[in-house]
Amino acid sequence: KRLPQTVFEFIDGGAEDEITLRDNRAAFERIKITPRILNDVSVPDTRTSLLGKEAKAPIVIAPMGSCMLAWPNADIAIARAAAAHGLPYTLSTMSNTAMETMADAVQGELWFQLYVLKDRSFNEQLVERAWAAGYSALVVTVDLQAGGKRERDLKNGISIPLQISLKQVISGMTHPGWAWQMLRNGSPQFQNVKGYMGQQNADLTIAAKVGQSLDAAFSWEDLSRLRDKWKGKLLVKGVEHPLDAARLVTLGVDSVWISNHGGRQLDGALATADALPAIAKALAGKVDVIIDSGVRRGVDILKARALGAQAVAVGRAVLFGAAVAGEEGARHALQILIDELQLSMKLSGVGSVKHTQEILMT
Ligand code: FNR
Repeated sequence: KRLPQTVFEFIDGGAEDEITLRDNRAAFERIKITPRILNDVSVPDTRTSLLGKEAKAPIVIAPMGSCMLAWPNADIAIARAAAAHGLPYTLSTMSNTAMETMADAVQGELWFQLYVLKDRSFNEQLVERAWAAGYSALVVTVDLQAGGKRERDLKNGISIPLQISLKQVISGMTHPGWAWQMLRNGSPQFQNVKGYMGQQNADLTIAAKVGQSLDAAFSWEDLSRLRDKWKGKLLVKGVEHPLDAARLVTLGVDSVWISNHGGRQLDGALATADALPAIAKALAGKVDVIIDSGVRRGVDILKARALGAQAVAVGRAVLFGAAVAGEEGARHALQILIDELQLSMKLSGVGSVKHTQEILMT
């Protein structure tokens, strides 16, 4: 309700007919838990190891660009909320906050998400900047070889920087709180890639603009070179096929991140909860598996753990929290997920997320 429809649909929407968007939810909903009884579940323990460190719960913040369309300084608001809960935060290449500004503003665990841009030297600079700013992990997103066809965005004409169209003016008038914040803070910009995205057609959707700048030729060999160069943890996001997952491990990747970009890229891609069992089997615990796309309830986290994921990543759930009340809203959204996770653990007879394999999933 707080956001103009154009902004809400940019966040909420998916590609084309939104089949994958819907199926991500349906797949989590299809999974059923067979609860256990008479276990001591008085204090459900959500702590888990993740990439060799402890996280307070098996939750990571997924990288999201353009968040400042929803709330001023939304990136920092969400990152501080994650830090308050002891959870890692992933900053997008396409964030509206420069990675150095973020690193100065937030004490918690920070990961940097890399979109591989066509300009290789600019890419190298991004990676070097992330290392210098103290980001412990690099998350390379590989499912945006082109921008997904998000028809709601085409219809709404939403872009960064914001174009002043009749639709935006009407949006502003009907959402004065949002419009006032935008006017006071100025239109969001892609701060990490300033100057790099400038020369493009202003009429493109945000996804198409980003897609145009990315290197669709990025290959296994290139990833291998990146692995040699990056000294921190390396994660690859956008994996669905078990053969790819297995090959990533042989390359020395530290974590396989199952994602279909929240249904925003390939419409018709497998729901991630359906992709998880085969990938978990192929990897047999060799590296941590992270899964995103469709996590909306705490019980989804329990289901993901039981099927072999080490953690889930959340995107829209936390961004919508921030869209309502900034840092406090993001913190509250995460608290809801954690409370629901603990409740579902109790009701499933699971005392610790480390023992989720004891519940049968069908
Ligand atoms: C995203 N996502 C994304 N992924 C990425 O690797 N880099 C990015 O810049 C973005 N930007 C982005 C913006 C917005 C508004 C959304 C909603 C999503 C995808 C994101 O990391 C994640 O894969 C999905 O959001 C997960 O699905 P849920 O949790 O939103 O259902």
